[in-house]
Amino acid sequence: MSELLDKNDKRTKYCGEFSAEDIGKKVCVMGWCHKQRDLGSLIFIDLRDRSGIVQLAIDENSPDGIYEKAFRTRSEYVICAKGTVRARGEAAVNRNIPTGEIEIAVEEYKILSSSQTPPFAITENSDVRPELRLKHRYLDLRRPDMQNRIMARSRIAKIARDYFEENGFIEIETPNLVKPTPEGARDYLVPSRVHPGSFYALPQSPQLYKQLLMLSGFDRYIQIARCYRDEDLRADRQPEFTQIDEEMSFVTQDDVIAVNEGFLKKLFREFLGKEIETPLPRLTYAEAMERFGSDKPDLRFGYELKNLTEILSGCQFKVFSDAINDGGSVRAIKIDGGAKFSRKEIDLFTDFVRTYKAKGLAWYKYAEDGTFSSSYAKFLSDSENAAILKATEAAPGDLVLIVADRKNSVVFDSLGALRREIAFKTGVIKPGEYKMLWVTEFPLLEYDEEDKRFYAMHHPFTMPMEEDLQYLDTAPERVRAIAYDIVINGMEAGGGSVRIHVPEIQQKMFSVLGMKKEEYEEKFGFLLEAYKYGAPPHAGLAFGFDRLVSLLLEIDDIRDVIAFPKVQNASELMTGAPSPADEKALSELGISVKTEE
Ligand code: AMO
Ligand code: AMP
Repeated sequence: MSELLDKNDKRTKYCGEFSAEDIGKKVCVMGWCHKQRDLGSLIFIDLRDRSGIVQLAIDENSPDGIYEKAFRTRSEYVICAKGTVRARGEAAVNRNIPTGEIEIAVEEYKILSSSQTPPFAITENSDVRPELRLKHRYLDLRRPDMQNRIMARSRIAKIARDYFEENGFIEIETPNLVKPTPEGARDYLVPSRVHPGSFYALPQSPQLYKQLLMLSGFDRYIQIARCYRDEDLRADRQPEFTQIDEEMSFVTQDDVIAVNEGFLKKLFREFLGKEIETPLPRLTYAEAMERFGSDKPDLRFGYELKNLTEILSGCQFKVFSDAINDGGSVRAIKIDGGAKFSRKEIDLFTDFVRTYKAKGLAWYKYAEDGTFSSSYAKFLSDSENAAILKATEAAPGDLVLIVADRKNSVVFDSLGALRREIAFKTGVIKPGEYKMLWVTEFPLLEYDEEDKRFYAMHHPFTMPMEEDLQYLDTAPERVRAIAYDIVINGMEAGGGSVRIHVPEIQQKMFSVLGMKKEEYEEKFGFLLEAYKYGAPPHAGLAFGFDRLVSLLLEIDDIRDVIAFPKVQNASELMTGAPSPADEKALSELGISVKTEE
């Protein structure tokens, strides 16, 4: 039977907050039974709440059936206990927990709620199937490590709010039922009952609203905003996620960068006690690709890409020369000390680059004793082989890995990913190390071979670089954008841009994206109309908040910093969402569902 709280049952403080200073005090605690140990004449209960654990001691001679209740108490029962704090016997002191010097001698004891045996132990780092954890997320969230993550997330949000408030930003909420804002992903649609056949979209980001707030004169906007994108999920992607979303008026790229470096400085100082040196390094997109094969380079290790195209342009090895003759390239990375990798491991690297569409991986193992083995050396001249070693700065003990392809993007993607894959294996990455940078001058547009048209690389409201405006009609692929990403440890933590505030440029941009006047008037007429009434130049950025939290906590999967995340197929295992709607609701919406045979 569950007992009820009465008005005198007031918790003194959290379990984990007791210490030797409380000895002799009468206290009241509440929480979950973490563990019950029955020593016969004495029962110990570890009582747990979000702050930690305190030990209750229940003597067999306790009055009012207290001992019997303690005897019945199992893991995860919810308890209210009153008693006196006393020192533990010297032998019983537990130096591993902050409350380990004391215990509470129980004088009153209520079982507020009982519990079945939970499907997994409520302990730190317990090795439980992810599906089971998510099905019983409320229990999973009781585990101390999950509690710490969720509480850390709250502290990080607080630091962000404080910083932006201190810097003159105004927090403004934007709607969650919106007209689609094209951000590249598929929209989640919400049917309208009042307008059958019409749909709202859930916002992929508050992009257009925050820009319009600049037109309204709010000047500096911030929102910790929920965003929704119907895209394929990965470890760093959820269908609904949170951004720290910002926008500023009368600024340039450098102002946005400075404000956000200030934020990162405060965040790392207050949350991790780490000093960040600013200004952070910047790389243009082109440099980042050339040196790291990625627009989100991980700077915690070297293994930089080297371009061998020129050296090998006349070579006899068809794998290389064909790629070059077809307009592609040959590039290499050198792994310091990598000669120790076995053939089998190199085969795994080959399988790895194939997932990035590379057709193979050529290698050169330069043994410590100066001898070598290689998949390609016999096809090249001595001078070509020597030139590769020179270009890659390979020394005895190193491994050179080469990809050739007629598409430069394949060479970059495969080597860019491989250098990170190998870095995780070799252990060059030190825990607790952070390397961040800005990547700038992104291409404005991306050509889609399948759709045979350009897409905005960031979004269609991003300002082209002034000196590239001339190419917008003739060579759109050459146009760079005033767009920037903040990259931390190889992850895109945030991104933003200077926006187009000139209606003529915005219209031109829509045209380049293949939209006819009627189409963009229908979709974005309100924006073009707004620009007729005095638009300030503006720019902004959004951090992926979940990613930022996971970076600070050094957690690989953002699901572990989200209270109720979705799984790979976008369902939520605890509630079973999504689920079919009932007939009545559907008919009110004027929707009939076509079921596939
Ligand atoms: P962008 O689309 O680059 O820009 O998003 C900003 C940041 O949000 C994070 N992010 C995600 N995090 C988790 N799950 C996802 N599915 C997901 N998608 C993106 C990333 C990313 O850097 N409106 C613009 C910002 C602007 O221009 O101001 C925008 O949304 O960390
Ligand atoms: P082959 O002549 O096909 O036996 O290839 C010789 C070596 O070149 C093997 O190690 C292949 O893995 C490698 N190789 C094949 N295609 C490529 C490519 N596109 N880029 C780099 N190496 C390749």
